[in-house]
Amino acid sequence: MRYFVSIGGASGSIYGIRLLQELTKRGHEVYLVVSEGAKKIMQHETTYTCTILNAQADVVYDNDDLCAGPASGSFPLDGMIVIPCSMKTLSAIAHGFGETLTSRAASCCMKEGRKLILVLRETPLDLPGITNMLAAKESGAVILPAMPAFYHKPERIEDLIDFIVGKVFDQLGLQHSLYKRWK
Ligand SMILES: Cc1cc2nc3c(=O)[nH]c(=O)nc-3n(C[C@H](O)[C@H](O)[C@H](O)COP(=O)(O)O)c2cc1C
Repeated sequence: MRYFVSIGGASGSIYGIRLLQELTKRGHEVYLVVSEGAKKIMQHETTYTCTILNAQADVVYDNDDLCAGPASGSFPLDGMIVIPCSMKTLSAIAHGFGETLTSRAASCCMKEGRKLILVLRETPLDLPGITNMLAAKESGAVILPAMPAFYHKPERIEDLIDFIVGKVFDQLGLQHSLYKRWK
């Protein structure tokens, strides 16, 4: 399967990194974009660098490259995940403002009826954020906030991260054992 993973500039770059690792480990093709904001946050929050991530992805794009394949609806993709997704990028996606490759590719996924998963991270939420979530949902996106549960009895931060990555896998219809299901 071919997935477009966009790592955005919200806190929680590690969610995107873990998703990239888990998809490529299973042999899926991953097209990757890391926003400029995400690059700074990743450097602050993790020990990963873009060089490490780029080596794992099949193709890497700049977020301002609107000539890249995923900027066209004709580019074949099985799904797109923005993880983590900032409220700014949510707003662009909700309003069809395709000024970045991420927001343009998201619009293409929605118009072509492809799976688009937005792993939002913000708290508390303001009214524009809430209404933008509704608009994106109404346009076909999956709103999957980075809100880990505790019923699987997490013992390490990795367990919380993998819960969210597992939820993304669930939405993509991919089998996994990233978190322990209820019962
Ligand atoms: C350390 C840091 C953490 C941030 N965390 C968040 C966040 O959790 N959620 C969010 O919506 N924006 C967050 N931001 C703001 C975004 O990075 C900013 O709005 C950026 O323009 C998002 O653009 P992008 O989605 O293209 O990466 C954070 C910024 C910094 C510097």
